[in-house]
Amino acid sequence: MKNVFVTGAAGFIGFHLCKHLKKRDDFVIGLDNFNSYYDVNLKNLRKKILNDSGIEVIKADINDKEILKKIIKENKITHIVHLAAQAGVRFCFDNPEAYVNSNIVGFVNLLEVLKDFKDIKLIFASSSSVYGLNDKIPFSPTDKTDRPTNLYGATKKANESLAFAYHHIYKIPMIGLRYFTVYGPFGRPDMAYFKFTKNIIEEKKIEIYNQGEMERDFTYIDDIIEGTISAVDKAKSFEIFNLGNNTPINLLDFISIIEKKLGKKAIKIFKPFQKGEMLSTFADIKTSKEFLNYNPKTNIEDGIEKFIDWYTKTY
Ligand SMILES: NC(=O)c1ccc[n+]([C@@H]2O[C@H](COP(=O)([O-])OP(=O)(O)OC[C@H]3O[C@@H](n4cnc5c(N)ncnc54)[C@H](O)[C@@H]3O)[C@@H](O)[C@H]2O)c1
Repeated sequence: MKNVFVTGAAGFIGFHLCKHLKKRDDFVIGLDNFNSYYDVNLKNLRKKILNDSGIEVIKADINDKEILKKIIKENKITHIVHLAAQAGVRFCFDNPEAYVNSNIVGFVNLLEVLKDFKDIKLIFASSSSVYGLNDKIPFSPTDKTDRPTNLYGATKKANESLAFAYHHIYKIPMIGLRYFTVYGPFGRPDMAYFKFTKNIIEEKKIEIYNQGEMERDFTYIDDIIEGTISAVDKAKSFEIFNLGNNTPINLLDFISIIEKKLGKKAIKIFKPFQKGEMLSTFADIKTSKEFLNYNPKTNIEDGIEKFIDWYTKTY
């Protein structure tokens, strides 16, 4: 049995991770600052469900060293899964401080705390955004990642470098996971699949950038959770892995799938390519398969159906 501390536990991935860890009988405790980047009611709903299954989610910020130390000591934490971060690409143009505060200062704060708890294994969320302007596909963890297209990607790249430096000096075992466009029930309202679904149902316009000439390696939440839990079990040195679906899908095809499942046509508004975006994401998952036994199983049709089922029941 492991004692796992999950930061960002009221978030989309954190919520699912806590539930799954608890199901296999790990001790789980969460932390989240419940910021208002998107609908706080959804974060509270996730928290309530976690509380009902016996998981505490403490309202606090990762920049609070004393709280982090207290949680670690009182609960004899053996593993930390660090998911708390400012996510999203567009928000960074007007709110750069949010990214610096949570993703850089907050991340270093956590690493500093870990200096006193060097046996704890750290699993942290990185992102496909670190691949930025790379055009060699699929993206491999051994590819260079020094050309992010936005501040969010830059902070995630910084996390990987900062983590390595602390691992190198203090020998803290760590795994960084580069998640690729994660979707599913209880998902994030700021993400395109959520907005498309909502607007198609409500017969509102959806905005499509670059004539839809974009593709994303959409990865279903249950597959992401399996990969993340495997990282919890296997962390021993320092590794970076891709957790993607290895099957990118074109944006217009993706919208057609949602339309088909909803039995409704989208009202499409075409807009120019947005600054900061990436044209394509595509994960090479060879090393994740070998090391983590990672094997994504959910195809986009089934995954979107599960999301839409949840969405229509909830809203
Ligand atoms: N969802 C995706 O497609 C995706 C893709 C790549 C990487 N990631 C990364 O995975 C992690 C989880 O993403 P998610 O989709 O669940 O996002 P999310 O926004 O739903 O969850 C993050 C949670 O962290 C909390 N948080 C933010 N700053 C905090 C702080 N300073 N202190 C305490 N809590 C704080 C937020 O309130 C939120 O509940 C993030 O690090 C994100 O960058 C997600």
